[in-house]
Amino acid sequence: MKDILQQLEAQRQEARLGGGEKRIAAQHSKGKLTARERIELLLDEGSFEEFDMFVAHRCVDFGMQDSRPMGDGVVTGWGTINGRVVYVFSQDFTVMGGSVSETHAAKICKVMDMAIQNGAPVIGLNDSGGARIQEGVASLAAYGDVFQRNITASGVVPQISVIMGPCAGGAVYSPAMTDFIFMVKDSSYMFVTGPDVVKTVTNEHVTAEELGGALTHTRKSSVADAAFENDVEALIEVRRLVDLLPLNNREKPPVRPFFDDPARLEPSLDTLIPDNPNTPYDMKELILKLADEGDFYELQEEFAKNIITGFIRLEGRTVGVVANQPMVLAGCLDIDSSRKGARFVRFCDAFEIPILTLVDVPGFLPGTGQEYAGVIKHGAKLLYAYGEATVPKVTVITRKAYGGAYVVMASKHLRSDFNYAWPTAEIAVMGAKGAVEILYRSELGDADKTAAHIAEYEERFANPFVAAEKGFIDEVIMPQSTRKRVARAFASLRNKSDKMPWKKHDNIPL
Ligand code: HXC
Repeated sequence: MKDILQQLEAQRQEARLGGGEKRIAAQHSKGKLTARERIELLLDEGSFEEFDMFVAHRCVDFGMQDSRPMGDGVVTGWGTINGRVVYVFSQDFTVMGGSVSETHAAKICKVMDMAIQNGAPVIGLNDSGGARIQEGVASLAAYGDVFQRNITASGVVPQISVIMGPCAGGAVYSPAMTDFIFMVKDSSYMFVTGPDVVKTVTNEHVTAEELGGALTHTRKSSVADAAFENDVEALIEVRRLVDLLPLNNREKPPVRPFFDDPARLEPSLDTLIPDNPNTPYDMKELILKLADEGDFYELQEEFAKNIITGFIRLEGRTVGVVANQPMVLAGCLDIDSSRKGARFVRFCDAFEIPILTLVDVPGFLPGTGQEYAGVIKHGAKLLYAYGEATVPKVTVITRKAYGGAYVVMASKHLRSDFNYAWPTAEIAVMGAKGAVEILYRSELGDADKTAAHIAEYEERFANPFVAAEKGFIDEVIMPQSTRKRVARAFASLRNKSDKMPWKKHDNIPL
């Protein structure tokens, strides 16, 4: 019996070494942790339970039968993050470059199936040379099996991808279908075709970092939701995110202890809005002052900065925040901000996370650039996402809410539950100057008359009371009381039940 136990321990030791000491040292020399070290950091101490440690590939081509490393290049299993179950796979670059064989993919599929069945998030730590070249089409088919599970799991359990090394070719499409993608600066990249193919086909000279590094995907493409300095920081941030999310679509997000009075007043908010309506101010100040303990988990911070998306807690409960940012492009909506906002709203709705919308929007960005690139369809995504969302929705208009953008930004007309406005709100079809130029075109030569018309228009519409008269605004609130009002509104909506009619699925404009 003792021998058997020793044998088991020896086998485990060998499996834990993955591709061996030399390759582990090479991994460390690139500033990367190993697959197992990453899992240790991600999960609560001692909580990891591994599956399939002894699985080996079955390939007999290209001399592969002579080397069958245990685990086959991916470590899989489950554990806990702050006591809540998550399923994990972590690709081991030290074993054949973390390449994906039939058996490697089967291990990933097993944890995904368990996550879907048992209602817990899947976290994938990606570090792989892609399809195992020696296995040919079998490897492609195996990727297909993972893709199908990404689709099945979508909207059922949260899926988080962390890109911690190469991720190229069709392999990118598994992370692409997950809810959040995080990257590590300087050691990860994602692209469909690499720099060499790009050079051959388009004659562009570009490095892997420029083509698909963390900065490219957080600033230009918006493929990634955030980029971090190193593996450790990335994994700590994943833990923070998981703590904000429900485990599945049948659960509410976790309630955490809070030490911040929900009725806290913030007198400084009474002077947040500048006297001049064209002067910007930082909407993040409002978000931080509303949130429990001033804590805000921002997503896509570097992309489409004219809209802000992320999570806060109110009375210890997760709330998704969408806010126009007057500091960038005056906070107007455009293609990028509409797409960014829409995807976030849909995530919140799929996972029962209430949505707080903070509005200061002068309208949609004009121009051929926007129209030719399809702002009609992309803008409609945000409109659609808000209108289909059945989670509690609370909206606060701080200043401008003009035209179509007023309707889009979680207005009463899209089934928002509470619509508040600050006394500084201006709700109208368009700004005073534009309106007068259309309504009084024939009098534009007369500066006095035009100024009088502008003043009259502002007097009539540059306030929240016309909308409030019609019941489109439930109440005009004091800025300093916003946290209290919003927290109470969400508290009153905790048992909200709203449904859309049965459909196979919707047809959101893509
Ligand atoms: C088998 C692979 C491999 C792969 C790497 N290795 N990628 N083995 N299949 N796809 C092996 C290497 O042979 C090497 O083995 C070890 O992993 C480490 O690789 P290196 O090249 O030494 O590492 P590095 O210099 O860091 O370069 C990493 C790399 C490079 C950039 C990822 O290995 C590479 O270009 N690999 C091929 C990438 C690729 O074309 N994959 C297919 C993409 S298409 P030894 O024994 O020497 O340590 C795809 C389609 C998916 O993935 C489709 C889904 C539908």
